[in-house]
Amino acid sequence: MFKKQMVLDDVILFRTGKPFNTTAVIKEITDDFDNSDDFPYFEVKEYENYYEFVYEMDKDDYVYGLGEQLGALNKRGKEYKLYSTDDPIHTPEKGSLYGSHPFAFIDGSKKFAFMIDFPGEIVFDIGYTHKDLMTIKVPSKDFDFYLFDIEDKYEVIKKYLELTGSPFVPPKWSWGFQQCRWSYPDADTINNIAESFRKDGIPCDAIYMDIDYMKDYKVFTVDEEKFPNFEDFAKNLKKDGFKLVPIIDPGVKIEDNYSVYEEGKENNYFCKDKDGEDFVAAVWPGLTHFPDFLNKEARKWWGEKYKFFTDKGIYSFWNDMNEPSIFYSLKGFNKLVEIGENLRGNEDMGIKSFLAKEQMFDMANNREDYKSFYHRADDGSTVNHDLVHNLYGYFMAKATVEEGFDNIIPNQRYLLLSRSSYLGHHRIATIWMGDNMSWWDHMLVQMRMLQSLNMAGFFYTGADVGGFGSNASPELVIRWMQLGAFTPLYRNHSALGTREQEPFAFDEETKDIMRDIIRLRYSLIPYSYSEYMKSVSELRPFIKPLHMDYEGKRVKEIEDQYMYGDSIMVAPVHTQNAKGRFVHLPGDDKWLCWVASKYDERKMSIYFPGDFYVDADLNEIPLFIKENKLITISEPMNYVGEKEIEEITVIGLVTDKAEFTYYEDDGETKDYQKGKFAEALITVEKEGNEYKFSVEKDEHENPETGETYELAIKRIKFEIYDEHGNIIENTIEI
Ligand code: GLC
Repeated sequence: MFKKQMVLDDVILFRTGKPFNTTAVIKEITDDFDNSDDFPYFEVKEYENYYEFVYEMDKDDYVYGLGEQLGALNKRGKEYKLYSTDDPIHTPEKGSLYGSHPFAFIDGSKKFAFMIDFPGEIVFDIGYTHKDLMTIKVPSKDFDFYLFDIEDKYEVIKKYLELTGSPFVPPKWSWGFQQCRWSYPDADTINNIAESFRKDGIPCDAIYMDIDYMKDYKVFTVDEEKFPNFEDFAKNLKKDGFKLVPIIDPGVKIEDNYSVYEEGKENNYFCKDKDGEDFVAAVWPGLTHFPDFLNKEARKWWGEKYKFFTDKGIYSFWNDMNEPSIFYSLKGFNKLVEIGENLRGNEDMGIKSFLAKEQMFDMANNREDYKSFYHRADDGSTVNHDLVHNLYGYFMAKATVEEGFDNIIPNQRYLLLSRSSYLGHHRIATIWMGDNMSWWDHMLVQMRMLQSLNMAGFFYTGADVGGFGSNASPELVIRWMQLGAFTPLYRNHSALGTREQEPFAFDEETKDIMRDIIRLRYSLIPYSYSEYMKSVSELRPFIKPLHMDYEGKRVKEIEDQYMYGDSIMVAPVHTQNAKGRFVHLPGDDKWLCWVASKYDERKMSIYFPGDFYVDADLNEIPLFIKENKLITISEPMNYVGEKEIEEITVIGLVTDKAEFTYYEDDGETKDYQKGKFAEALITVEKEGNEYKFSVEKDEHENPETGETYELAIKRIKFEIYDEHGNIIENTIEI
């Protein structure tokens, strides 16, 4: 039975039972419920322990959403099991990845959206068992179902973000390039990597520290042999513009006298097994206990641990393995020993060996293990992990931010990546897309996920550029670096044992091309950052699938072109040996095509709507600037904030009137929320054959201090094209 409440205009909450407080929704829900007999759009089937929601799809219905998932952008034709898992083989049929985002849109004869706030497994069968039926199974009688009876997708997302919170804003430097590798084993290696970037003139803002920086993989330790004088090491890198980003894994090694273990044990901060003993599972360090992030005390304890790093000026982290990933539990291990014993004298076992292998792989991330441990929730109740499984990564992020950063570095912006996530996670942190491969297909996977994740509130996100597992060819890395330059999180990462992927790990020509792409990325930051801040304040995705801006069947099927901000449509080349690609130019707009390689070289042409094959050599990526929209670029630097940006260049195809709001703040603190930011409204207007240019400054006042935040830019140059491709130039001093 459901009761209902209108929580926002046209957003109805249907509640059954007593849902677990996931904190996904921050909008206050009152006790004022009505009884509900009807349930719009869905046939609701009630069973003894679960509900099923059935929607009959029209043959032209498209289904979008579900955040981090594999398969097509249109979710139809597949089964999805929303149960967070560490699965490193991202093949298209997989129905679970690291996060759970049960929020979807129906776009067809009827248009609406819905979100299910339930942190256990939810199965979405979207035209898989029956091609026209969407059946959603929620294995509980205690959950919230939000129905967005709204046609417009922007409006749905706005309401969704009013419920779950606006996306978080990382520091400005996080628009820079970030280099990662599993692993840079010691301080010398990291110093050499940093030096190579600067020596080669390749911009870079961050270097990641994967698990080998720790002493025996013990969380919140640094191996002093490999990293002597860690504090000075971090300080020196910072001076040169590099931010260090250490990995944080939840599994706490069981080892006497290791303070994190001792404190956790003494204070009951770890998850318990059915007998009330600390649950034991193996991850990188060997046998570990898992902190109980669902418990406020444990979160507080964990959050404060980050102080070890923040005291050293490190404000950025990646929380990994937080599904939580389990290599094996003791039960699983004993099973393996049994298999081992059974193998003795069975050399000719044939098919049995195949089955034994399956059992061995079954040990990792095994559902039985997840069912076998418990949390002590904030209200004191004991909760079986399986029912709240999808919250673990999100609550680890809550520990990091709400119980950690908010107390220890309250006004400091941070970059926090997490591997696992749930609804609402986007307001405090973000995610990367996990362990992809250096496969061409995975570039397409990244583009689909980027668009779906933006629809779920993860505006700032990205995948491991160049691919994490397997070896990357120079061509693949170049093409991926081009795509990555148009994703908010721009991090190149690769796995242990694979070919190195830093720009200088390849031949000279490849390195030169990669340098140019990264410089192009930096030159576009005045545009990207302004657009990002606008998208967060307006609650409109930063990355948009074309079907959000244009109507019709054709655009609904496009997965490999997307809007990056409101002015640029990106069309990356993502297939092997291609020297160009087909592009669809939607709507009635004309487009200014920039086949971009170097930031200061223009290869521009005007396109009308339609389908085209666009040439793009290995060093080029086709960008399309929308008619009557503008972009802003500047000289690239070695790292964000190295110099003040005093001059920007505005580029666009203007046939009528175009406006762009350029945005500046300190890039590091949260003072912008108090008004410490400045904007410049840039306008280009065509009247007859004349162009008029204007810039209006909007320098805000910080109400606390009364100070005005002044714009740093002094000069704006214009490179404006008319529809015949003629260029009109101008400069305004401001
Ligand atoms: C996991 C992470 C990966 C990391 C590795 C070692 O596979 O997803 O990014 O490099 O663990 O820590």
